[in-house]
Amino acid sequence: MPVISAIAGLSDEMMAWRRDLHAHPETAFEEHRTAAFVADHLHAFGIEPHNGLGGTGVVGTLRTGEGPVIGLRADMDALPIAEEGDVPHRSRRPGKMHACGHDGHVAMLLGAAKYLAGSRNFTGTVRFVFQPAEELEGGAKRMVEEGLFERFPMDSVYGLHNWPALPAGVFAVHQGAVMASCDTFEILVEGRGGHGAMPHLASDPLVAAAELITALQTVVSRRTSPLESVVLSVTGIEGGDSFNVIPERVRLRGTVRAFGDQIRDQVEGHIRRVAGGVAAAHGIDSEVTYERRYPPTVNHEAETALAAAAAAKVASVEHNHAPSTGAEDFAFMLLRKPGCYVWMGSGREGGENPGLHNARYDFNDTVLATGASYWGALTETILRR
Ligand code: NI
Repeated sequence: MPVISAIAGLSDEMMAWRRDLHAHPETAFEEHRTAAFVADHLHAFGIEPHNGLGGTGVVGTLRTGEGPVIGLRADMDALPIAEEGDVPHRSRRPGKMHACGHDGHVAMLLGAAKYLAGSRNFTGTVRFVFQPAEELEGGAKRMVEEGLFERFPMDSVYGLHNWPALPAGVFAVHQGAVMASCDTFEILVEGRGGHGAMPHLASDPLVAAAELITALQTVVSRRTSPLESVVLSVTGIEGGDSFNVIPERVRLRGTVRAFGDQIRDQVEGHIRRVAGGVAAAHGIDSEVTYERRYPPTVNHEAETALAAAAAAKVASVEHNHAPSTGAEDFAFMLLRKPGCYVWMGSGREGGENPGLHNARYDFNDTVLATGASYWGALTETILRR
């Protein structure tokens, strides 16, 4: 598939940026070097950067005549993972690495910015949005709350994520939901501690917690429609630190993933009821804290058609790929503006192909030109001269 030839010429430069960023990973809201790197490059392309929105976020604006305004977004943060790969550009920062390819996302959007600033083959305005803290901390939400769309008005907004499970040269474009919501819950099971040899004199929260973990499995299997996708995983249990002491309390934690707000409401209600019921059966108390972190990422119809048309110019496009039960904070931008979030295949043919968030992951540099070309094609598709 043909990438934009002027962008193919930027491949080596994008690779150098990407590897520099990979060697210097920064986690949520600490992306100071990365933000300066982005701002310096935008400035060099003739795009005035605005720093500091959402902490370390950067927004660049490129205008050519009167026309619609689009936002192109890349996330900048790394993960708290110790890199195990031995590539020459491996992380210089212990315990941190770009294991999700956000280094590649930044390099591709910078490549597109350089190309568009030079070619200006469009009429309208492009906002280059470099956001912090995509992983767990909701940097997109913070940028939106700090006035992203008021200070930098735009008609629509677009996101992209590399996807190692898809081969290079393939895009997956979803109409509607593409990523799930991410909620977390914590359940405090509070009994009465006592001697392990005399359980009848205590109220054992561990037995209740064990029963509760099992009972929670019925929330999805018995309480929600089999035609609707929901995940409920209990991911932690904490309590007790002795052989002969029944603890006072036990803490459970876990996550819920779904693709609609109604089902999230239902699941939260079921968790509260099951926790209350099981605790009551044991004559003890429970307290549920349910936190809504990321909404589902839901693409908009017209913008998805535009994104698919742009992707088809530089790659082949799959439309029937199942959505992911992972989550993405670009969802917060799509709650406010119409837009589309696509997956770009980044799998390597043959050889090692570790997935996202794996300690041996390394962004596939051969797709840098493809991703930057997608941004270029998208801009030239929507902001047609
Ligand atoms: Ni990511």
